Amino acid sequence: MKSIASAPGKVILFGEHFMVYGAKAILCSIDKRIKVTSQVIDERKIKIKSDLGNVEVDVDSSSNNSINLMKPFVYLATRTLKKFKKNGGIEINIESDIPSGIGLGSSSASCVAAAASITGLFEKLPKEDILKLAIEAERTIFKNTSGADCTVCTFGGLAEYDIKNGFKKINSKVDFNLVIANSKQSHHTSEVVEKVKKFKDNNKELFTSLYSQESELIQNALLALEKNDLSTIGSLMSKNQILLEQIGVSTDRLDLLLKEAKKTSFGAKITGAGGGGCIIALVDKSNIEQTLTNLKNHDDVFSSKIDYRGLLDTF
Ligand code: PMV
Repeated sequence: MKSIASAPGKVILFGEHFMVYGAKAILCSIDKRIKVTSQVIDERKIKIKSDLGNVEVDVDSSSNNSINLMKPFVYLATRTLKKFKKNGGIEINIESDIPSGIGLGSSSASCVAAAASITGLFEKLPKEDILKLAIEAERTIFKNTSGADCTVCTFGGLAEYDIKNGFKKINSKVDFNLVIANSKQSHHTSEVVEKVKKFKDNNKELFTSLYSQESELIQNALLALEKNDLSTIGSLMSKNQILLEQIGVSTDRLDLLLKEAKKTSFGAKITGAGGGGCIIALVDKSNIEQTLTNLKNHDDVFSSKIDYRGLLDTF
């Protein structure tokens, strides 16, 4: 028997970096998915096939020695085999249309889809339990993850998040497209977060003022999302970008992409940590083609819609 599950990637629409210090962020899942197919095999092995490579580990010696990026899957498979006292192994096949390592939630989506697919071989768990497992699995590689990405990948749609109150689903059925352009500049979230901390420590008053501007902006964004008011959402995204530029997380390359994106979209900003990674531009059918064309001359670009489905455990 095969057990199949898929989960969407995500973008941060508003609030990255300031959320580290308690501000609200708004996340949105996108219609690019990772699909995981699992099956029980007779051999006492965990076999993982993915675009990032193929890995085989012995079930009984797997816990600490697996290749870093594969740790979540080895964790989920060994835990499940142990729970159901199975003698064999599990083969896991991961297929992704989310580019990895550029802040679009590929790691979280793969943990959520794998948690559902692997446990689905033996039992059907509610989404809340799958989410818990997925966060445990992701912590094998990102110790301090807030769980924000896994949550939005599990439930789909839009969500607000802050450290104190955790998650709240936003029930707006706003309809927009995003044009996403990958700068192809590699970045490390933890390094950029550290750089922002230094900026904050050296510019206390300025940071406090930027933080309160961000908080006010996010309240306005929540109202605009409720009203499906794309031109206000877009202009708030561009304002959010100005705040991000002031804390030093943009780059010349990202600025160039943003300049092109803003010519025709409702607004644009980086998504995620910055220092590289992607920009997002808010569009609808009136300006999507032109925005794609503006950016195509510069980089790796595609469009995406909000995914309202979240985790799917069969097709
Ligand atoms: O680059 P991403 O999508 O992992 O987002 C990082 C978001 C930050 O606010 C910069 C860091 C964090 O842990 O909240």
